Amino acid sequence: MKYTKTALLLLAFSLTAYAQKGKNAKKTQTREEFVTELMGKMTIDEKISQLVQFTADGTVTGPKAGVNYIDEIKKGNVGSILNATGVKYTRELQKMNLDNSRLKIPLLFGYDVIHGYKTIFPISLGEAATWDTDAVALSARVAAEETAASGVHWTFAPMVDITRDPRWGRVSEGSGEDTYLGVQLAIARVKGFQGTNLNDLNTILACTKHFAAYGAAEAGRDYNTVDMSERVLRETYLPPFQATVDAGVATFMTSFNEIAGVPATANKFLLRDVLKGEWGFDGFVVTDYTAINELIPHGVAKDSVHAGELALKAGVDMDMVGAVYLKFLKKSLQEGNVTEAQINDACRRILNAKYDLGLFEDPYRYSDDKREKQTIYKKEYLDAALHVANESMVLLKNENSVLPLNKNQKVAFVGPLVSDEWNIIGSWAATGDRYGYATSVEEGIMEVANKKNVSFDKGVEILKDDRSMIAKAVESARNADVIVAVMGEFENMTGEAASRSSIDLPGIQKEFLAELKKLNKPIVLVLLNGRPLTLEWENENMDAILEAWYPGTRGGAAIAQTLYGINNPSGKLPMTFPRNVGQVPIYYNHKNTGRPYLGPTDPEQKYKSRYTDVDNSPLYPFGYGLSYTTFDYSNLKLSSNQINFNNTLKISVEVSNTGNYDGEEVVQLYIKDKVGTVTRPVKELKGFKKVALKKGEKKTVEFEISSNDLRFYNIDMDFVAEPGDFEVFVGGSSATETKDKFVLVR
Ligand code: BGC
Repeated sequence: MKYTKTALLLLAFSLTAYAQKGKNAKKTQTREEFVTELMGKMTIDEKISQLVQFTADGTVTGPKAGVNYIDEIKKGNVGSILNATGVKYTRELQKMNLDNSRLKIPLLFGYDVIHGYKTIFPISLGEAATWDTDAVALSARVAAEETAASGVHWTFAPMVDITRDPRWGRVSEGSGEDTYLGVQLAIARVKGFQGTNLNDLNTILACTKHFAAYGAAEAGRDYNTVDMSERVLRETYLPPFQATVDAGVATFMTSFNEIAGVPATANKFLLRDVLKGEWGFDGFVVTDYTAINELIPHGVAKDSVHAGELALKAGVDMDMVGAVYLKFLKKSLQEGNVTEAQINDACRRILNAKYDLGLFEDPYRYSDDKREKQTIYKKEYLDAALHVANESMVLLKNENSVLPLNKNQKVAFVGPLVSDEWNIIGSWAATGDRYGYATSVEEGIMEVANKKNVSFDKGVEILKDDRSMIAKAVESARNADVIVAVMGEFENMTGEAASRSSIDLPGIQKEFLAELKKLNKPIVLVLLNGRPLTLEWENENMDAILEAWYPGTRGGAAIAQTLYGINNPSGKLPMTFPRNVGQVPIYYNHKNTGRPYLGPTDPEQKYKSRYTDVDNSPLYPFGYGLSYTTFDYSNLKLSSNQINFNNTLKISVEVSNTGNYDGEEVVQLYIKDKVGTVTRPVKELKGFKKVALKKGEKKTVEFEISSNDLRFYNIDMDFVAEPGDFEVFVGGSSATETKDKFVLVR
């Protein structure tokens, strides 16, 4: 059964309705009064301990700073713990803390819940491919329900880094290359995690990360140097961060990288001036894992004492795992290198968050075994995960309509991921179960296909050059009408510390495809991966390609439903797919240059901004994705060819479903500002709408923009729109040429 929009809304509603309201700490006191009174009783050591976070034994992403977290909790030295999950364990740690805390200040438990806690949804990049803010919010909502029911108060998500370099493994954790899409999805995720009131028992604190520009690491190498103009920083990289502040996000995380010579974790401009100053952020800032300690190898701190001082002064409130604040902040205070006011401010922000969650009222309010059991893997969560996975599928090629398959065809399913239950939920999959729980492609196929007509053979591994299984797989394929190869990257080839200098299909998978190709049968390539790959050969040689990302716990079912046409793919790429790695970074909203290349028909082929060995165009552009049906765009209309700074422009277009299936299309609106005091991108996304169209149906889709949508940082770094000529493009991808124009006048 396909999940309908109405069913989804009902689920979202029921989740909200289940919210159990809590009482505030002391009804007579405001948060400020309560925290002020508490802080009045705290010693400086007790205040500093609130700024300290250590990791339990769960997933750790670096060294543990030589600290035994249990001992530190017993000494009353800890404000927060990460990587402890489950009601039983978190309750145990909370009790240990309260037994040793003079003022009974509860611990805050944080964890990386990126695309699900137990019920795993598609990786964030896959969710971004849905271009559906409701679906993305629903995923975060379900994640919050399961997380909160498991004793955890805080997720280190959303990751809102703009990513234009697919070599960087962490592109899988974000929403891709575009600022506008990134802003919409960042807001959806914060609302999904935090709900409308953090005191509700089914909400958790969100944490916007990584602040900032982590995605722009040179050469796509993780943790590498970042340098960029303030204009690019503010215009391209910062808006999703700011949008989450406006949406009420409770916490922020610093990034590992430096920006223009200043590491983000010691960056006063970013943390104090922009985040806490200009944007008025009143939550707290945690570092990334041991990022204070890393100020030493960065070369801005001479030792740990110095590193802690730089971080606190810059505006870092909580030290993740580094133990620097715990060991040295008091000394820095005594030596006059930091002020008590700075420590107080950090402490207050953290206590505020604990208050908002209702932890002072009852530190164990997230510790209900029964609720945990009833909540995890609820049927409606699994259905929601299937729905979002279905929406995330991007059809890249479908020659001769080889897809959808029909049940009467004999299909040979082959490839290293065909029966896989490990990789399908992707990296950063929290406590999501892999073996025995996640639906593999094979299991998904068995749910929908005629069992007599399908076979399953691995053929090759991803990471081993083992050719011994190829012959058997080729034999099965020889007897089939269609071959479906399920291939991709091993899940840990994307995510943190997983940069690749080649983004080809790894190992001997392509060699295996070449063997299959010799059989002269239609081949469908299904890809499970966490980044854009270079697929020129595959695009040339395969009949159909389905980009399935890592689709989550019910991922195999979504792939099967899509292959057999129960789901009509409607995902669109949130990142450009290059032709080869030499084109990287490649993104649709680039600048024109003084010598733009017009393509193969350009009369001037030399002295143009181009490569001599590959076209400038990508293999698949941003916003691209096919459907089993076809859509036609016509009648683009503007309400006027002129707007001023006070009125709005209405843009409408007729979209028709001209093919043989019901389907959904993401209608995209792009703008080009033709002349500015500084150069402007060739196109910028300014709106999108996902519309469902029955076979033969036509709908008018409308957008509305005002001069506010045309603002940028001009030559004086003022954020304004400039009068002049604009072009409007509407279509099903960033490559659309359907356009009109208007003028903005004073
Ligand atoms: C990652 C963060 C993550 C943190 C805690 C770090 O290594 O960069 O994204 O939230 O670990 O697990």
